[in-house]
Amino acid sequence: YSQDRYIKDQYTFPIGASVNPRLLSTNEAYRNLATSEFNSITAENHMKMMLIHPDSELFDFSKGDELIQFARDNNKRMHGHTLVWHNQVPAWMLAFSGDLQAWENMLKNHIQTVAKHYQGQVSGWDVVNEAFLDDGSLRPSIWSKNIPDYIAKSFQWAHEADPNALLFYNDYGQDGKPHKMEAILNLVKDLQARQIPIHGLGLQMHINISAKNEDIRRVIEQSTATGLAIHFSELDIAVNPKNDSTFVFNEAAKEAQMQKFNLVFNAYRAIPKQQQYGITFWNVGDRDSWLRGYFKRPKEYPLLFDDQYHRKPVYSNLLYP
Ligand code: G3I
Repeated sequence: YSQDRYIKDQYTFPIGASVNPRLLSTNEAYRNLATSEFNSITAENHMKMMLIHPDSELFDFSKGDELIQFARDNNKRMHGHTLVWHNQVPAWMLAFSGDLQAWENMLKNHIQTVAKHYQGQVSGWDVVNEAFLDDGSLRPSIWSKNIPDYIAKSFQWAHEADPNALLFYNDYGQDGKPHKMEAILNLVKDLQARQIPIHGLGLQMHINISAKNEDIRRVIEQSTATGLAIHFSELDIAVNPKNDSTFVFNEAAKEAQMQKFNLVFNAYRAIPKQQQYGITFWNVGDRDSWLRGYFKRPKEYPLLFDDQYHRKPVYSNLLYP
């Protein structure tokens, strides 16, 4: 492959990565890849509640703004992630107490302050992230407990704050979890019936080389049939999901990963153009992958760039679609 061709230029839809502002400002190889290979970015952590709203009266937009500046300087789209989640919630929110009205005011203030701050600078928001369990029930969280209709309200409040942003519901593991998928489709129908704006579905696509092709195809088809924009919002393909300490990333594993990336990209390319919001990788290189840190799994290689930030063979396979 040639070093002067970049994956972002190979597709008619945006190719993104989640990024970390510390690496962006301290690691040149990382910054070069983020700049040349991708045309969309998502903040890996810094627009989440815990980081952006650390105290009830305090919003900290500094790192998010840094990413916005990077996006602007380098002509990248910025995708907003995420307004409401059960995870990475600041302590003061977890300790919050009040009646329904007080909870609604608190969440509305969060959503609208953040969405207004980034109005015109992000193309879309993951408004609500991971609200359902695998069995399709609403995930127990401070949000579902204290504001039973929080999903619909969050979309409504986000829309009021930034009427031009595309609003996404984002979740993982739809493949092989039919009840979760059904809950998401029912949510879309419910919001549409109530005329509450939802514009897109984020399929995180944290998958592994054993994910079943037919399951992946089915959830993509079901999602696409809603007519909403589709974002593969957090793509990575794990090769060592069981965290085997003796794992070797051998030819067979490389081939399996390449086949799976092909399947995912081909399925995405089959989505009608007007519904293609883009494919975003979760992290830039293998060494930054959340799978290594979060699961303490050093032998994991789920992305397109190796530990030296060099292109892996799987990269060139996606270069000429
Ligand atoms: O910054 C603190 C540091 O001060 C502290 O000393 C250290 C000790 O634990 O933690 C650091 O925070 C970590 C944070 O990432 C920033 O690096 C958290 O522990 C760690 O849990 C957190 O992990 C993030 C994870 O979301 C939280 O659930 C990952 O980086 C991030 O990649 C991951 O992203 C999520 C998406 O938002 C939603 N979909 C799933 C995806 C993968 O889990």
